[in-house]
Amino acid sequence: MRSTTLPLLLDAVGDTPVVRLRNLTTAHEAELIVKLEGANPGGSLKDRPASHIIRHAERTGALRPGGTIIESSSGNFGIALAMYGASLGYRVIAVVDPKLTATNRALLQAYGAEIVVVDEQDDSGSYHKTRISLANRMHDEIAGSFRPDQCFNPLNSDAHLHSTAAELLDQAGPELSAVVCTVSTGGHLGGIARSVKRRAPHVRVIGVDVEGSTVFGGLAHAYLTPGMGLSWTPVNLDDLSLVDEVYKVTDDDAYRACRTLARTEGILAGVSTGAALTVALAAAMRTRAGRRVAVLASDRGERYLATAFNDEWLRANALTTECTVTGLRARAGRLAPHSTDPARDCANYLPELAEQLGSPTARATAEVSR
Ligand SMILES: Cc1ncc(COP(=O)(O)O)c(C=O)c1O
Repeated sequence: MRSTTLPLLLDAVGDTPVVRLRNLTTAHEAELIVKLEGANPGGSLKDRPASHIIRHAERTGALRPGGTIIESSSGNFGIALAMYGASLGYRVIAVVDPKLTATNRALLQAYGAEIVVVDEQDDSGSYHKTRISLANRMHDEIAGSFRPDQCFNPLNSDAHLHSTAAELLDQAGPELSAVVCTVSTGGHLGGIARSVKRRAPHVRVIGVDVEGSTVFGGLAHAYLTPGMGLSWTPVNLDDLSLVDEVYKVTDDDAYRACRTLARTEGILAGVSTGAALTVALAAAMRTRAGRRVAVLASDRGERYLATAFNDEWLRANALTTECTVTGLRARAGRLAPHSTDPARDCANYLPELAEQLGSPTARATAEVSR
């Protein structure tokens, strides 16, 4: 037997499976297909930008042996960095907020990451801006530290352009008619939109935000769905003309759909997958048989056993426990787009923000252009 060189953990990212669903659509509608990003080693799609950004930082010398990685993340990106930090010998500090779940805290700690909690809300009522500015201040103070800066670093969408999108287009084949992605940093929607419009411009790109977040404008208020939302349009979504339609879904729709996916298709994924699935089902119901609508299952559902998959927790948070196919199809059938021309209707860029928060990526760009 010939011996082969096996990949390091950092290189074992991607090539995730795509499966077709059996029970949510009828024979007269498009097929729903799901890319299972939970199959990445850290359990989510965030392994891709984490691995890409770390590799780039090692190549450019921004991250040196024994260095410290500091990032604002209460979820999957922090967990991916903690995993790679453990493997590569970096100290990892995750700047989180009080919404951090007990499971994510335990996962970060399992990989040996340090946790710093921000408790001050920003002007939008969320914690993104206070978290990011604290991470930037810590980066200034800690020698040998590196900031992946997922909200402002274009390498985030670059990772998805070169891996997630390329894989999905090959796996979905010529029947692909639409791709549905949720949004927070805009990393995967931005990268996938760019790749799809280059390689298969007839494929519709659909973005999904949660009610209460203002990535695509609208009214800001508190929401529960983890992993989604931001209070501005991120730079990784710098060309909204590549996105054909955007939707806003409620917390209740997102939680119910992720539970329905588990019970009727046997796919245990997180709440953002439920949000994307509701919109993808609406698209599939409008599209003829023989075509395909793709959706990403962004992470594994085990992370949500104490929340989305716990009836008591749902009731305590005024969320519905019902999760049937009929209910999901009825809700999908009633969905209306927030916009069918997001570049015209929804841009909510805050061009000064990166510099105001002290983003190292913005600082480096300003220095180059000076
Ligand atoms: C589970 C989950 N879904 C969706 C997203 C949104 O992805 P992006 O940051 O690429 O917009 C995230 C981001 O953290 C996530 O963790």
